[in-house]
Amino acid sequence: MSETVSILFVGDVVGGLGKRTLLALLPSLRDRYAPDFIVVNGENAAGGVGITPKIAREMLAAGVDAITLGNHTYRHREVYAYLDEEERILRPANFLASQPGHGWCVVRASGTRLGVVSLSGNLFMKAGRAVFPEVDSALHALAGKVDHVLVDMHAEATSEKVAMGWHLDGRVTAVVGTHTHVPTADARILPGGTAYITDVGMTGPRGGVIGVNRDQALTSMVTQMPIRFETSSEDPWLNGVVIRASDEPMRALEIEQVLLPAPGVV
Ligand SMILES: [Fe+2]
Ligand SMILES: [Fe+2]
Repeated sequence: MSETVSILFVGDVVGGLGKRTLLALLPSLRDRYAPDFIVVNGENAAGGVGITPKIAREMLAAGVDAITLGNHTYRHREVYAYLDEEERILRPANFLASQPGHGWCVVRASGTRLGVVSLSGNLFMKAGRAVFPEVDSALHALAGKVDHVLVDMHAEATSEKVAMGWHLDGRVTAVVGTHTHVPTADARILPGGTAYITDVGMTGPRGGVIGVNRDQALTSMVTQMPIRFETSSEDPWLNGVVIRASDEPMRALEIEQVLLPAPGVV
């Protein structure tokens, strides 16, 4: 039996409640899944939109190996310099080269090198460069430096995410979709050996509207008038996936959804 590598990926952490849910559940997730790597999408961690250096440092101190982001990357100015300084926090690789930060990194654990790549879709999203050629460039840059690669495809359109799964099948270990905050039921290993899911879901208040206070979201939709949005505080859950891989590079053995309520977290 060859050695296996286990990667826990956690879907978009929303607000303080999402962060507290993540931190509260991490010890039991470690016991249960023994992840060699933990990667978290943190694009909604600061009050529901964006992330700050303080929050990112808290996650990294708790044992998170890398943080991916998305369309809300630049909401908080204080994170701009940090995105350049901290290797383990990633904004989408297909943003403009002139924008702060970088789109991939390599993290190491148990003698294994994991490349992590953050991407943004182009359909219904603002990303300065085309995602398909840019992921090819990222993989070219990582070639020979990694044993496994996890790609976070942060995108609105399910079609674009499915297409990215096929584009990368056999070339990376996992393609995980984020951004819609709703977990999909299509986790599987593609024929070339890449673990794939269209959306991992979110970590935070399930009682709202993809994280937003339910009454405010409904008022906005019903009245069509502007209203201030706050983060919901109801019904925290953690949504993630665990990917198990063999010692064969870029091959996954299985992908399992992790959908856990956290009723004690407030
Ligand atoms: Fe998000
Ligand atoms: Fe997003």
